[in-house]
Amino acid sequence: MLIKFDDVRKYDNISEIEREKLRKIYEIIKKKESMLDWTDIKTCISKEELQKIIDLSKEIRSSCDIFIVIGIGGSYLGSKAVIDALSPYFKKEKPEIIFAGYQLSASYLKELISYIKDKNVVINVISKSGGTLEPSIAFDELYSYMKENYSDYKKRVIVTTDSEMGALKEFAEKENLLTFTIPKEIGGRYSVLSSVGLFPIAVAGIDIIKLLKGAKEEKDCFEDASRYALVRKHLEEEKKFVEAITIYEEKLSSFAGWCQQLLAETQGKEGKGILPIINQNTTNLHSIGQYLQEGRNMIFETMITVQNTEDIYLDKYHMTMNEVNNLVAEQVSIAHKLGNTPSIKIALEELNPIEIGKLIYFYEVAAAIGGYLLDINPFDQPGVEDYKKLVNEELEKIKEVLN
Ligand code: PA5
Repeated sequence: MLIKFDDVRKYDNISEIEREKLRKIYEIIKKKESMLDWTDIKTCISKEELQKIIDLSKEIRSSCDIFIVIGIGGSYLGSKAVIDALSPYFKKEKPEIIFAGYQLSASYLKELISYIKDKNVVINVISKSGGTLEPSIAFDELYSYMKENYSDYKKRVIVTTDSEMGALKEFAEKENLLTFTIPKEIGGRYSVLSSVGLFPIAVAGIDIIKLLKGAKEEKDCFEDASRYALVRKHLEEEKKFVEAITIYEEKLSSFAGWCQQLLAETQGKEGKGILPIINQNTTNLHSIGQYLQEGRNMIFETMITVQNTEDIYLDKYHMTMNEVNNLVAEQVSIAHKLGNTPSIKIALEELNPIEIGKLIYFYEVAAAIGGYLLDINPFDQPGVEDYKKLVNEELEKIKEVLN
């Protein structure tokens, strides 16, 4: 993985005050102060839990047709990002991985329940708080389905939740279900390398040991991650309020979605932060590419490319298709720079678990540093809690009237 700041040189500097601040941030991260257990693989996942994940995922892979992951936000975006990045487009192996509980579409849930009929199904519900509306509804419906359709349903439902408390933990204990725990000091969007992400990723047949190895190899990324965080901060100060996370390999679309959530929920607070948007290229060159080139001067890009992929030699162009893709990416970045949309460039050697592990860890560290640089708490999401509270109050009122 290589990160280049050539096109944003103007924003790539550091003042003495910032240097001092980064020194303090480094100490906070090194000491693993509050909510920082994700910085160390050993506190992300214990050896015992890792082995349990490997064993159970093997068992599920040998028999199951459909594996349903129920969760929202940080409870599913990370595993989806890794699975989509590292699975083939079309030749899908069993089990089919389906995500649910990440929205409130009744038709989605109804169609899902009818789709899984007569198939061998296992479900994994993931919620740290154990009380989030969307996964709760999906879980209630799917749990009833499992109960009605399988005598061994208790072996087919795996609960991933907080290690110490919550309604889901209580439910799992009462029903005697298999469980994985989410460490107390790891929040949803930083949890992909804990049981939250690792279990579904392992069920998808991806080598989680290599994924963790990649993350470990990035453990000294503080300098690069600080540079990225600082450049972003300077861009924001220059009123570049939108970051297009631009990918040139479709398999990275969900990864861009995970980055979007990580950065937006971490830093979009107290009237601060950059709005990250997902930009799939070259598709979007024929859509919002126009805006990036000539629209309002408020955007920059972080461009993620893949150097080596499966490839096709194009006789007509005397180069491979991936070379054409990377050539387009390079020329687009030149054009965008002229249009006041500069790019930070991240090049992955290839799409493999090690590179993705590195990228995940790098982004997590950069997101947290960026939050500290803005003097906000990188690990809360008071805005999300606000809407949840209003919805719950309204639902309670209706319940009270009808009871
Ligand atoms: O990053 C976060 O903390 C959030 O996006 C949560 O993951 C999301 O709100 C889901 O919460 P929970 O896992 O408690 O259901």
